[in-house]
Amino acid sequence: MRYFDSKVLDNQQVADDIFVLRVERNGAEAKAGQFYMLKSWDKELTLMRPISVFKAEKDELWFMYRLVGKGTQRLSLLEKGASIKLLGPCGNGYPCEKLSGKVAVVGGGLGVPPLCETSKQLTHAGVTVDAYLGFRDVLFGVEDFEPWCDSIFVSTEKGEEGYKGFVTDLLKPEGYDCVITCGPEIMMRKVAAMCAEANVPCYCSLEHRMACGLGACLGCSIRTQNGMKRVCKDGPVFLSTELLWNS
Ligand SMILES: Cc1cc2nc3c(=O)[nH]c(=O)nc-3n(C[C@H](O)[C@H](O)[C@H](O)COP(=O)(O)OP(=O)(O)OC[C@H]3O[C@@H](n4cnc5c(N)ncnc54)[C@H](O)[C@@H]3O)c2cc1C
Ligand code: FES
Repeated sequence: MRYFDSKVLDNQQVADDIFVLRVERNGAEAKAGQFYMLKSWDKELTLMRPISVFKAEKDELWFMYRLVGKGTQRLSLLEKGASIKLLGPCGNGYPCEKLSGKVAVVGGGLGVPPLCETSKQLTHAGVTVDAYLGFRDVLFGVEDFEPWCDSIFVSTEKGEEGYKGFVTDLLKPEGYDCVITCGPEIMMRKVAAMCAEANVPCYCSLEHRMACGLGACLGCSIRTQNGMKRVCKDGPVFLSTELLWNS
C-alpha cells in the first residue's frame, strides 16, 4: 500500500448518478475486491473516500462510483488532466488464486463494479464464472462482464430490464464451488444463508464508514466469530461463516 499522486484520464457519467473515473495507474497493484482511498481536495474535506477497483487495466485504474455526498460530488467534478491522490491498494480482496471450478459472483447496486475485476481475475485463474447482477431500475456496467462470464443474469426490482425481482431469486448456490458477493447487506445476508444451506463457501465484501483506511484508527471495527476485525485492513472480504452481521 502506498500514497501517491495520479492524473485523471477520464471521468464520465454513465447513468443517472453513476460515474466512471479512470486514473493513471502508476504501477499500483490491484487485487480483485481491493479498494483505494481517493481524494481530490486539500482542505475542505478531511477524509479520503473508499472506492473499489472496477477495472485494473495495464496503465489505468477504473473506479465506478455513485454520487451520494460531498466527497463523491467533488470527484464527479474532476476533468481530464486533474490531479488526484490515491492510497492503496487497501484491504485483503477475494482469494481468486485459491478458487477453482465454477464460481458465482452476486452483486447488487454499487456492489456490481468490483465484481467485474473479480470476474476477470477468476477467469485468468482458470475458474468458470457466472454473474448475477441486481439493480433497482437502471443497469450499469453489465456489458463489462461479458468477456469474463459464461452466463450473466440480470434483475431489476420492477422488471424494467431482465428478471423482475431480486437477483437472489435466480441464484442456485448448489451449482457452484464458491459464491462471491458484494452489495447491500440485506442481499449479502440472503446469499450467505442460501450458501450455508447448500454447504457452499461464500465470501462477502463488507462496507463500513472509514476514516484512515489503513487499519490504524479502529473506526471500522466489527465483531466477528473470530474477535474484533477491521473492515479496511482485515477485510473488506470475509467468509460468511465468520460474520455476525448485526454487530
Ligand atoms: C471498502 C469500500 C468500497 C467501496 N466501494 C465503492 C464503489 O466502488 N463505488 C461507490 O460508489 N461507493 C463505494 N463505497 C462507498 C463510498 O465510499 C461512499 O459512498 C462514499 O465514501 C461517500 O462519500 P461522500 O463524501 O460522497 O458522502 P458523505 O455521506 O458526505 O460522506 C461522509 C463520510 O462518510 C463516509 N461514508 C459515507 N458513506 C459511506 C459508505 N457507504 N461506505 C464508507 N464510507 C462512507 C465517507 O467516506 C465520508 O467520510 C465503498 C465503501 C467501502 C467501505
Ligand atoms: S478506517 Fe481506520 S482502522 Fe479502518
